[in-house]
Amino acid sequence: MSAQKRQLHLGLFLFSTGYHPAGWRLPEAVTDGAFDPKFLHRVARRLEEAKFDFFFLGDALASSADMQYQFPSQMVRLEPFTMIANIAAVTEKIGLIVTANTTYAEPYHIARLTASLDYLSSGRVAWNVVTGADTRAALNFSREKHWDNAKRYDYADEFVQVVKDLWDSWEDDAFVRDKAGGVFVDESKVHKINHAGEHFSVAGPLNVARPPQGQIPLLSAGTSERSQELGAQFSNAIFTGQIHIAGAKQFYSGIKSKMAKYGRDPGELSILPGLVPLVGRTEEEARAKYRELNELLVTDFNLAPLSARIGIDLSGYSLDGPLPDLELSTLPGGAAKDLVTLAQRASGREDITVRELFHYFSATCRGHLLIVGNPEQIADQIEEWFVQEAADGFNICPPYMPGGLDLFIDLVVPELQRRGLFRTEYEGSTFREHFGLSRPDNRFAKRAVLQTAAE
Ligand SMILES: Cc1cc2nc3c(=O)[nH]c(=O)nc-3n(C[C@H](O)[C@H](O)[C@H](O)COP(=O)(O)O)c2cc1C
Repeated sequence: MSAQKRQLHLGLFLFSTGYHPAGWRLPEAVTDGAFDPKFLHRVARRLEEAKFDFFFLGDALASSADMQYQFPSQMVRLEPFTMIANIAAVTEKIGLIVTANTTYAEPYHIARLTASLDYLSSGRVAWNVVTGADTRAALNFSREKHWDNAKRYDYADEFVQVVKDLWDSWEDDAFVRDKAGGVFVDESKVHKINHAGEHFSVAGPLNVARPPQGQIPLLSAGTSERSQELGAQFSNAIFTGQIHIAGAKQFYSGIKSKMAKYGRDPGELSILPGLVPLVGRTEEEARAKYRELNELLVTDFNLAPLSARIGIDLSGYSLDGPLPDLELSTLPGGAAKDLVTLAQRASGREDITVRELFHYFSATCRGHLLIVGNPEQIADQIEEWFVQEAADGFNICPPYMPGGLDLFIDLVVPELQRRGLFRTEYEGSTFREHFGLSRPDNRFAKRAVLQTAAE
């Protein structure tokens, strides 16, 4: 990490029809962007114009048609490695994050794919390590069930270690390409990894040279304790869903304090919560768009999940009546009040109805904070979270596409730049450089140097 002033990191979490479940129904929304390279190129170029750190593609290994009401963007989409290879060809600076699930993959494949993409993008790739949020994936991979958390993370820990070793199996200067002498490669600089562990046995070397970034940056996004440990040990960024600043600060300091036991500096890891910014040129415009989106929600108003979330049975309440007394909540820690406060802020009024609370809950129940406002109001909240170390930056999830992204880029990014919080130019060209991360030495070369010194 360089000694420069701490700067905000911004990335796009791609939901091709927007994060809001009804985003695709707005008259101006693009509905088929997920499969349209022109649309995806336009999005990537806009991110680069705005000097974003990264373009992030999540992934899952299962689908069903009923996801259309809650997760239309995740129901069908392009496979991330293929798509990023295409995006890399039309961009120059933006970091590119692919998600790959360790539970249903082999380390040699993932090392090869990521290293190849790092070459094709000139060092702009990062890998989001997931163990799988969708349990249905098992049925698509000849298994009876999704492994439990402990098994998934035992496997993932070893998997990541093997991939990291494979990336280093060729030293940077292994290729001598000596035409006169007829030596293409210095064989003393090519290493078998000879990994023999509980889950994998991998000889190596990889059949791709050491990637441009040396070690490709890792990201993770799980919520469990094991995932947090994996993040503290290996990740350069952690994605998270946080909707309250107090909880986010706790998560932030908790993860950073775990890093010391792995010999890591807290500056090597950025915490990046998701953020759904509903931006208007004015506050009124933003609120009107929020209402428009909510009215387009296709729902049967099943209040059971919301009741569970706030600890109050809402079945006897009228949708257009006032909220119940929040003191009735059976949950500890003010969970009901926290959600209601956010919903009130989004609506801009205290006297919201059960329907309005339901709308806010539906728009955010996948875990990310939705805020509504003019550019200054949105920038204020970003600044507050950043300054208070609740976040090092945000994974931006526009509520609708591409208009929701355009407004953020055209109005909020300049405001953040005016405040000196966000870059006005790229200082580097690789993912590592955007995050101020140095390029690590090759573990085998380092070992050889240490051995020579000891002799
Ligand atoms: C912002 C964010 C993005 C995520 N993206 C994905 C994803 O694309 N694919 C996936 O399988 N899981 C994704 N997850 C879920 C986790 O990475 C994790 O694999 C899952 O929650 C199971 O692990 P856990 O039990 O540790 O939470 C995401 C989580 C968060 C917070």
